[in-house]
Amino acid sequence: MHSFFHPGSPHANAVAHLWWWMFGVGGAIWIGVTLVALYAAFTRRGSGDGLVEPPAAEHRRIERVVSAATFVTILILAGFLVYDFSVGRALAAHPQRGLTIDVTGHQWWWEVTYENPDPSRRLVTANEMHVPVGEPVQFTLRAADVIHSFWAPSLDGKRDLIPGYTSSFWFTADTAGVYRGQCAEFCGLEHAKMAFYIVADPRPRFEAWLKAASQSHQAPADPTLAYGERVFLASGCATCHSISGTQAFATVGPNLSHFASRSTIAAGTLTNTSVNLTRWILNPQVVKPGVGMPAVPLDSGPLTALVAYLESLK
Ligand code: CUA
Repeated sequence: MHSFFHPGSPHANAVAHLWWWMFGVGGAIWIGVTLVALYAAFTRRGSGDGLVEPPAAEHRRIERVVSAATFVTILILAGFLVYDFSVGRALAAHPQRGLTIDVTGHQWWWEVTYENPDPSRRLVTANEMHVPVGEPVQFTLRAADVIHSFWAPSLDGKRDLIPGYTSSFWFTADTAGVYRGQCAEFCGLEHAKMAFYIVADPRPRFEAWLKAASQSHQAPADPTLAYGERVFLASGCATCHSISGTQAFATVGPNLSHFASRSTIAAGTLTNTSVNLTRWILNPQVVKPGVGMPAVPLDSGPLTALVAYLESLK
């Protein structure tokens, strides 16, 4: 779902209602003005040769009509101003804190952190976040480089992520589902390929995901996967990425600890399949020109093992 016509939260619902009212009233006014203009254009007055000054009584009547129309216009605009402010207030009011998710915008991906009092259970992921349905979720927004904007149209309005400044907002997803979001502030070459997904699940499913995603990995027993892990650590991947339970703990690129549980590669650019991952590793600059990820030229043996290893990181 990626449309504010399909609201999945009370916030998005309020925004959608405001929009429909503006559309309805604006549309009615447009139709009214068009009809009056057409009426004026096709109604002939006087002899038709040049402008005719209307009689004084008629002049006063026209003045009254214009004044009334101006007054109604001001009234409608003032009404929308009050409505608009009230929606803004409802969106900004902070609830009793529930879950807090830290989101940091990077060119061009989203770093996502679920804080935990126990640091070993702190969960870091990217581009895909899970939230419980029916509970307020607080988002803390930061930017690592330039201004980005967090926008999941079915859940909330746009919120900017500004370097050197921390902002926060919240919403409650009241309908389970997968919501697509998009960076909504031009942030460079791949601004369009900076998408994210919010998965709203009932509490038990959310808990299960959180538990699985907070787990560190054991060294793989399967020889191909073990080889893939060695390739990962030796081929430069670990210079930028981290995988919990291994020697890779760099934070330049997205955390790959549970890479296989995500539905896309490169912030919504490719669906997460072995074929796409192979493409991505060999030549990311073709898929997403300008991306920070360099090409990793590997022979087919190590490449296959690496892809199998990454796709095993559920
Ligand atoms: Cu980030 Cu546009």
